[in-house]
Amino acid sequence: MNNYLDLKNTKNFSEIDKPANVIKKGGLVLFPTETVYGIGANGLNSDAVKNIFIAKGRKQDNPLILHISSFEMLNLIAKDITDMELKLMNAFWPGPFTIILNKTNIVPDVVTGGLDTVGVRMPSNKIAFELIKQANTPIAAPSANISGKPSGTNVQDIFDELCDKMDFIIDGGNTEVGVESTVVRVIDNVPVILRPGGVTAEDLKRVAGDVKIDKHVLAKLENTEKVLSPGMKYRHYAPNSKCVLVYSDDNQKLTSKIQELVSENKNPLIISSTENISKYDVPHVLNSGSSKRPQEIAQNIFRLLRKVDSYNPDIVIIEGVKEEGIGLAIMNRLIRACEYNYIKM
Ligand code: TXA
Ligand code: MG
Repeated sequence: MNNYLDLKNTKNFSEIDKPANVIKKGGLVLFPTETVYGIGANGLNSDAVKNIFIAKGRKQDNPLILHISSFEMLNLIAKDITDMELKLMNAFWPGPFTIILNKTNIVPDVVTGGLDTVGVRMPSNKIAFELIKQANTPIAAPSANISGKPSGTNVQDIFDELCDKMDFIIDGGNTEVGVESTVVRVIDNVPVILRPGGVTAEDLKRVAGDVKIDKHVLAKLENTEKVLSPGMKYRHYAPNSKCVLVYSDDNQKLTSKIQELVSENKNPLIISSTENISKYDVPHVLNSGSSKRPQEIAQNIFRLLRKVDSYNPDIVIIEGVKEEGIGLAIMNRLIRACEYNYIKM
């Protein structure tokens, strides 16, 4: 295939000019970032960006993040930047951090869903960074998945659902963080987390002194409420199978509750931490990683959510994690995957 570049085990990026040219010409490129894979297009070309929405089946009012490789690109697309915003960008870029800023006129309405703000991120993944640099334009990119499905963290997982819609595919192996970037908007000089991600609330607090977490990060949105981020409104990450999330700080309580659910349901599948796997006597238990290393669970979780339907379970029981550090991002995704079916003890 001449529109496929395998960069899994190489640091030789000399052929990135090919996908960069595809971006320049208005095509769609599947590419890795440190968080999840993205579906990229020239962020300043409305027609190219429209094709992202078609490929994903995404609602027009759900805005895209523009990915940049320099502060020159930032100044092209964003204005009125405050000292706090600059401080955060300097601290967390390049990296899994997206900031909502006032947009300039050059940013097409399709990118922002008609909002006067734009989400901006400078990724640290070398392939992503080089792609943006060589395309020489901000790249609009949502997570690589059909809308509603878990985000892609490796090419195999998303190949079937996306390959015929892409003009070029770059394979960079498994992504490092595994969940998407942290989306922040600074309000009254305080960073407010609209979506938790690779940069944690604790990281933000260390730099900004204070941090707020939007209540919709963990709570269900009521129909009448106005949201700061359109993405909060939509169903996301959910397998077709019915899922339930269970968590307690007391591990004994957690495993007993799951054993109880196992006895009440036929054909259950469990997503369990490595430490608890031997405690469950069911045919299908998937290992999410060590509860002592939530980073490992973040890396695995989207792949596992994609896998569960293949076992055809009557119910998927998922062990939660502590809502701190990267755990907040994991729980934000799992609560949505379970459509708010969450037992917390
Ligand atoms: O890690 C990531 O952020 C990945 C990689 C590819 O960079 N991208 C990603 O994009 O997750 P997406 O489109 O799946 O999620 C972007 C989120 C959505 O929830 C969207 O509503 C929100 O960011 N967002 C984007 N622009 C916004 C804006 N101007 N105001 C408020 N929320 C915004
Ligand atoms: Mg997404």
